Amino acid sequence: MSIQHIAIIMDGNGRWATQRNRPRTFGHQAGVKSVRSTIEATVKSGIPYLTLFAFSSENWNRPEKEVSKLMDLFLKSIQKETPELNAKGVALNFIGDLSRFSEKLQIKMEAASQQAPEQVRLTLNIAVNYGGRWDIAQAAKQCCEKVLKSPELLPHLGIEEFASHLCLADQPAVDVLIRTGGEHRISNFLLWQSAYAEIFFEDVLWPDFNESTLQSVIERFMNRERRFGQTSEQINA
Ligand code: FPP
Repeated sequence: MSIQHIAIIMDGNGRWATQRNRPRTFGHQAGVKSVRSTIEATVKSGIPYLTLFAFSSENWNRPEKEVSKLMDLFLKSIQKETPELNAKGVALNFIGDLSRFSEKLQIKMEAASQQAPEQVRLTLNIAVNYGGRWDIAQAAKQCCEKVLKSPELLPHLGIEEFASHLCLADQPAVDVLIRTGGEHRISNFLLWQSAYAEIFFEDVLWPDFNESTLQSVIERFMNRERRFGQTSEQINA
């Protein structure tokens, strides 16, 4: 049972910093190290797709200073890491409503997505200003526009056609969804794409997440039985 796609809700940066009497942004900085080691571990495991929830549509409600420090961190990380990631065979892709970010950041994100390596070993999707409901609503809007133009398409508008308008339409569904930080919520992440994902809620705070935590999740995944609505007997037959 091979894993094609892992998605991660990276939670717990703020608490990690607070435990050390440091500002929350110190936790986000430490979180970048975990991002780096998780990417490396995913490449090493031969898993071709990784999606990281870096900034949700709800995160704009945080204190202005934290949001602006996070934006700085994204900008610096993209600038610093992209060439090295490309050299390792990692192709970057940003998903979410990017229009709300500064022009400078949008340009950097666009440029980073265009610098694909010759041989892609891992497609890394970074979800920024992303929300699962937003994704479904924007797909619905695109379908409505199509049908308004060509009403004869309506009878053909099923699950597959609808899904082709979602973010990550050309990628496999999420097999493993991990949330660090001990909370048991999906928080409006990849709602449609995680329909049959095995979910792992880990207590570890994101800055402490590393290759061995990822390996432990992968091992536990291997012991789960994915039935996709069928019975155990049918799966084993
Ligand atoms: C959630 O922890 C984390 C975030 C909102 C930001 C995630 C960002 C990073 C890991 C750093 C940069 C990422 C990239 C892709 C360059 P929290 O602040 O909600 O933690 P808390 O629940 O302990 O308060």
